[in-house]
Amino acid sequence: MRLSPDTIDEIRNRADIEDIVSDYVSLKRKGKDMWGCCPFHNEKTPSFHIRPDQGFYKCFGCGKGGDAVTFVMELEGLEYVAAMRHLAQRYGIEIEEEELTSEQEEQQSERESLYILLNFAKEYFKDLIWKQEEGMKYGLSYFRERGFSDETIKNFDLGYSLDQWDAFIKAAKKKGFNQDFISKAGLQVEKDGKVYDRFRGRVIFPIHNTMGKVIAFTARTLKALTKQPKYVNSPETEVFHKSKVLYGLFQAKQAIRQEDNCYLVEGQTDVISMHQAGVPNVVASSGTALSEEQIKLISRFTKNVTVLFDGDEAGIKASLRGIDMILEGDLNVKAIVFPDGEDPDSYARNVGSTEFKKFLLHGAKDFINFKVELYARESANDPLKKAESIKEIVNSISKIPDPVKRTVYIKECSKLLDIGESVLITELNKLILQSNRKKLRRDKPAFLPEEVLQDPESDTSIKLNLEEIIQLQEKESIRLLLNYADQMLEGTGFDLQLADYFFREVDDVVFTHPLYKVVIEEFKSSIEKGTLPGSKYFLHHPNDGIRELTIDLISRKYEISENWEKKYRIFIKEELEVLKDASFTNILRLKFRIVQKMIQDNMAEMKVPGNSELQEKFMKRHQHLKNIEMGIAESLGNVTV
Ligand code: CTP
Ligand code: MN
Repeated sequence: MRLSPDTIDEIRNRADIEDIVSDYVSLKRKGKDMWGCCPFHNEKTPSFHIRPDQGFYKCFGCGKGGDAVTFVMELEGLEYVAAMRHLAQRYGIEIEEEELTSEQEEQQSERESLYILLNFAKEYFKDLIWKQEEGMKYGLSYFRERGFSDETIKNFDLGYSLDQWDAFIKAAKKKGFNQDFISKAGLQVEKDGKVYDRFRGRVIFPIHNTMGKVIAFTARTLKALTKQPKYVNSPETEVFHKSKVLYGLFQAKQAIRQEDNCYLVEGQTDVISMHQAGVPNVVASSGTALSEEQIKLISRFTKNVTVLFDGDEAGIKASLRGIDMILEGDLNVKAIVFPDGEDPDSYARNVGSTEFKKFLLHGAKDFINFKVELYARESANDPLKKAESIKEIVNSISKIPDPVKRTVYIKECSKLLDIGESVLITELNKLILQSNRKKLRRDKPAFLPEEVLQDPESDTSIKLNLEEIIQLQEKESIRLLLNYADQMLEGTGFDLQLADYFFREVDDVVFTHPLYKVVIEEFKSSIEKGTLPGSKYFLHHPNDGIRELTIDLISRKYEISENWEKKYRIFIKEELEVLKDASFTNILRLKFRIVQKMIQDNMAEMKVPGNSELQEKFMKRHQHLKNIEMGIAESLGNVTV
């Protein structure tokens, strides 16, 4: 089934960007825009904004942008159709569906079918625990012996899988699920041409996605001494990507928001026991290294993470890298170490809820301090180890994006390790420079102003060539046209609409960037027909690149120039007032760069050995171009923008 075009229209019409975004982000109005902290990356000062009248959002920090539907897709991790359904539900829109061809149907419904099958499996495993003799005898009693209450067992959808080769496969087939799907859902294993249930004779922990759908399982053996692995997990499937899931997040997300803190543990039993002990804001990485996606997932709900370590030093050291990643995400990290041999689950059971909560409250140490202490202990009398420790710790500090926080930590670290601050700072700066350089190289922004890139003080600068500068100026032209094509420029010599003025001045200029060229051509041909294409036209342009460009440019209200950041924030409302100057300067700058490029090309040709007659021609041309360049430079010097 597919959503009918009417349904799609209705959802698109009703889905109000302000409404939707406000569910996740607190927004403040500034003029036509609403601003807030970006939900897609971590920040303290808002660079995320929406334009309710145009129906889009855009973040200047991370570059994410789109409309209400893409917002839901990104934030809830949904496919297009699922996001549409989500919105339909929110607005109480009845969904009309259309028949698809069988092929399309199969494709679209594959994920849906997997969810249905996985949900069936969950119910099947659950039923066994509550209603079936073997399930009750082994499964239910196992959980009860671990101290899980019946309420807890139900709340986490815990279950049991029979100790048979293919009990589940049989049950699923009987329900009409085909073998192919059972395999795609990760519920069977194949060996020597035979298929078996993946989970046999184990207790079952379903893994839910953030929306509460079951997407995978992890299953624990009941035997204390066995060669079998303690846990068997679902493989990666179309709906389960291990690195993007945190166990317990669905049950915890509300509490995480409320408490504004997330406890991070290793195992699902830790999560469950903590819930029962009255600490519901907890998720598990399920025994694997923490991934960037998992950290982003947490940071949607809080910026504070408390990592709970089992009390063995080797284990702690192994997971320190993961913690650096949390720091890098600009989250605040605390650490708690449990007494030797205890994990959160066993400790909560041993000491009881009240003591356990006290322990969390008093045991939490700031992560950097925690790390310093950890290393200080072992390197107390070993200078070689000490040097290594310092590197380790400063490396962690260098991951913190906030410079103020870094300074505080350096001071503290200097005291705790008994090392001069300046030594630490030198080491820190080295690391920061290194990683900045890496970052710049990796993702040089498409529209980084030349002034930023050419900062002579910093050895991280990237020199733009003239072609790139010209394209920058072309982009600025497009920005002005998209935002203000119909604005009147009054006074000094021209009373024209911006678009008319622009094309009068640069009619002969051919844009070099392929996308900009298309926009310019379309402007030109419309103007010839006596109309002006508005930004709406380009917002719905069939070309993806042009749509993205348009979103980018109509949200970037202020010209990107020297003090772009300052201006952008402070003078955002005033561009209309300086529009005349802005368009004048833009055209001059564009021409200026083009002339410079011509000079450059001409010089290159001059260097080619040839007859003297030709050389003279090039020289004359050079002089001529130089004169033009100077003329423009003078005009530019008189302009105040
Ligand atoms: N794990 C796994 N596969 C294994 C062992 C562990 O996937 N063979 C994962 C599980 O998610 C487990 C976590 O690593 O929850 C931590 O492992 P461990 O500390 O051994 O298990 P506990 O959570 O303490 O489980 P229990 O209390 O039942 O022993
Ligand atoms: Mn345990």
